Amino acid sequence: MSRHLVSAADLTRPDVEAILATAESMHDVQRREVKKVPTLRGRTVVNFFFEDSTRTRSSFEIAGKWMSADTINLSAKGSSTSKGESLRDTALTVDAMAVDALVIRHNASGAARQVSEWVRCSVVNAGDGTHEHPTQALLDAYTLRSRMGALDGRHVAIVGDLTHSRVFRSNVITLRTLGARVTVVAPPTLMPAGIEAWSRSDGFATSWDLDAVVDGELPVDAMMMLRVQRERMTGGYFPTPREYTIEYGLTRERLGRLVDRNPDVLVMHPGPMNRGLEIAAEVADAPQSVVLDQVSAGVAVRMAVLYHLLAGQAAEPTATADDTRKAVQ
Ligand code: CP
Repeated sequence: MSRHLVSAADLTRPDVEAILATAESMHDVQRREVKKVPTLRGRTVVNFFFEDSTRTRSSFEIAGKWMSADTINLSAKGSSTSKGESLRDTALTVDAMAVDALVIRHNASGAARQVSEWVRCSVVNAGDGTHEHPTQALLDAYTLRSRMGALDGRHVAIVGDLTHSRVFRSNVITLRTLGARVTVVAPPTLMPAGIEAWSRSDGFATSWDLDAVVDGELPVDAMMMLRVQRERMTGGYFPTPREYTIEYGLTRERLGRLVDRNPDVLVMHPGPMNRGLEIAAEVADAPQSVVLDQVSAGVAVRMAVLYHLLAGQAAEPTATADDTRKAVQ
């Protein structure tokens, strides 16, 4: 594994398997009364969030703290970025303090890769614009595997605002890496440019018709609903919120049809959710929903990512998983 995690495409299948195996050990730590292991004692992790976050930011902070790393949080407001300091100068400044990892969220696609080329420390992409969010895809894969085992041949539908979604991009890559079958669904206005070529080369399906996927020949094992990112929209991508919900929302009625086809179907959402728009409130809280499992997995998976980047670089994947089990005992 590289010393950075910028894209889901940076990870081979053995890399993903190793991280998910380590995350299982980390999840055991999460269930203990005293949630502290010495694995990253003496290491420093800086969480630099230029964009708002609840789940990613807090879970990276918790992950670092539970592994005994020193964690520091910076945001654009309250740092010298607000005085006009460039991203490069800010990154080099933090790196010069001999930190070990920089976890970065930024509204510019490509910002994390750019920073990784400037600094000496490890860089983790915590979401860059509309590009990628690789740790979200890892925690989603962890959640799915916890419920259904290996993902080979499983059918995951990803539905909603694909154009503005970094979660969708990282998820397609990771799910395909793990052998899942993927169908992405969106209105034509929210299908990203170039998706036809990408879907052909990476072997996933695209559809404008959610009902055709719900009732399709291949039953859905998991339906991942994406947030309509109104803050990134400059034009009218759909006539009205009501019409979006009618065509693309996961309503109670659609969930009923999914369950009829597959009683074990799972409902996912990376959060934050627009209840009543892309997902009905009662569906978000339904027994099939694993939304809070995803949040819980976020801490364990981010512990595993920090472990592999900062503590386990030299080890082979299987040895690393064993090492982790010993390290957290
Ligand atoms: N899923 C996700 O990235 O959520 P936050 O924006 O709250 O971190």
